[in-house]
This record gives sequence, structure tokens and C-alpha cells, in this order.
Amino acid sequence: YWKSPEFLAWLYNESPVKDTVVTNDRWGKGSTCLHGGYLTCQDHYLPNQLPTRKWEDSDTIDKGGSYGYRRTITSADVLTPSEAITRLVQVISKGGNYLLNVGPDANGKIIPLFEDRLRQIGIFVWAHSEAIFATKPWIFQNDTATSPVWYTSQLRNTTGFDPYRIYNPQQQQNTIIYAFVLSWPDDNKVNLTKVIPTSSTVVNLFGANNKFIPMTYTQQNGGIQVDISGLGMPKFPSPYAFVLKIEYAADQNVNPVG
Ligand SMILES: *[C@@H]1O[C@H](CO)[C@@H](O)[C@H](O)[C@H]1NC(C)=O
Ligand SMILES: *[C@@H]1O[C@H](CO)[C@@H](O)[C@H](O)[C@H]1NC(C)=O
Ligand SMILES: *[C@@H]1O[C@H](CO)[C@@H](O)[C@H](O)[C@H]1NC(C)=O
Repeated sequence: YWKSPEFLAWLYNESPVKDTVVTNDRWGKGSTCLHGGYLTCQDHYLPNQLPTRKWEDSDTIDKGGSYGYRRTITSADVLTPSEAITRLVQVISKGGNYLLNVGPDANGKIIPLFEDRLRQIGIFVWAHSEAIFATKPWIFQNDTATSPVWYTSQLRNTTGFDPYRIYNPQQQQNTIIYAFVLSWPDDNKVNLTKVIPTSSTVVNLFGANNKFIPMTYTQQNGGIQVDISGLGMPKFPSPYAFVLKIEYAADQNVNPVG
């Protein structure tokens, strides 16, 4: 009835956006989680392992699950900035796109409650955009230490690399690792057990006003332990999570997608 195959054929072969358009997997019976430019599977999709395809977590700010506007919504029904940031970080560590739906009211207005949450999330995203936009998953997506840590990465020099690669390898001179720390450790020490240091490894904290704050670390259990004591607001741009930037860590030959 919708002529999806014909429409998609036109979109990718003849339309003015044929070289740049991207489609999801919701174009017909039996296509979700299987076909499409990227996979959304079901709403609130968050895989446990690093997927081998581009994918998206379609989420909504209403914890009641509505994608539309609900007149009866209360503050407690709305994702907190901390919950949304936690979700965002988990999604990008696995190469996903985070879609956060906000339902406008009947006048097309975004209610102040939603606006306020989006601004809080935005402060975090803006202050850490280097660790979020145009990054790729690292060889490890999370750390096993007790305080939750999620990784993304970037390469200084991408010459010779497939632009559609799923993850960045760990190369001492080339790879920049970003570690998102979602809760404050009681002893002011962050264990990054997956980061193997070299004599030239450098760790910086994303600070307020786009400044990097150099951090000291010790070797611990094969990884590093970063000391964050003596820091506090306003040195951190956002109260919900902080991000460490790690350069010149040792080479590791790990393939997270087998
Ligand atoms: C952390 O990463 C490991 C290895 O990919 C994975 O098995 C595990 O499910 C991840 N943990 C969570 C909470 O996603
Ligand atoms: C970090 O590692 C140290 C030494 O193994 C341990 O005592 C501490 O509990 C760990 N901290 C966290 C937050 O896991
Ligand atoms: C990037 O890597 C390529 C291939 O290894 C090399 O030829 C080139 O000189 C490098 N560019 C920079 C700016 O280091």
C-alpha cells in the first residue's frame, strides 16, 4: 500500500539527497532490526555488545513511554539529566545514535519542564563535544571497575582507515581515549583497568570553559588509577558526569566485534 520499495529505490537512486540520505529500519513488515541504513529495532533499544551495524536508541524523555505530549505529566515522569546522560554515554560507547524524543504540546510549545532537562543535558554535551561528536567506540566499551565508566575514542590520523569502521584500534601514537565517569568514587580515585599506561601516557580532565586539567595517575592492576581529589565544582562543567582524556596509552591488539 505505501509502496516502500519503490519509494526507497527513488530515494537512493534519483532523489536530490541520494548520496547523503539515511533511512532507518521501519519501512515495512519484517524489516526492523534487519534491513535499513541503520537499525532501531524496538524503542529503547540498547544492545549489550558492540553491534556491527550502525544503530539508534529511540528513546523518549517521558518515562511513561509516551512520544506525544501528556497533559498529566509530572516532574517525576521525566528523565532526569543524570538518567539521560547515562543513557547517552552507554549508547555512544557502542557506536549508536541517541534519539531523545520530546513531545510538543497542542500549541507546538516545548513545556518548560522539558526545556529545563534538555538544557541540563545540553550543558554536559556541549562541554564534552570533543568526546562525543565524530568519535567511535574504543576496543573496550566499558570498564569493570565498580564506578561505572564508558569509553569512546578518536584517531589523530585516519589516513588508511575505513571511514565506516566500527571501532578505533588502540595505537599508542594515534589513539585518543575518552572515559566517561558516571559516579563520583568515594576515595576520589578512578580505576581505568582497560587503559595500559606507557611512560608517555597523559591524562587530562575536561574542565569548565573548555579547559583541560592535567591529572596525575598511578599504575594499578595493569591499568591506571587517576586521582581526582582536590577537584570539585566549578572545575567540572557538569555535575552529572565527568570525562577523562587519555593519550599515548600502550598499544593493544583487541577486536571487540570478534
Ligand atoms: C561491558 O562490556 C562487556 C564487553 O563488551 C559486555 O559484555 C558487557 O555487557 C558490558 N556491560 C554493560 C553493562 O553493558
Ligand atoms: C580502585 O582500585 C583500588 C585498588 O585495587 C580499590 O581499592 C578501589 O576500591 C577501587 N575503586 C573503585 C571505585 O573501584
Ligand atoms: C598519517 O598517516 C599516513 C599513513 O600512515 C602517513 O603517510 C601520514 O604522514 C600521516 N600524517 C600525519 C599528519 O602524521
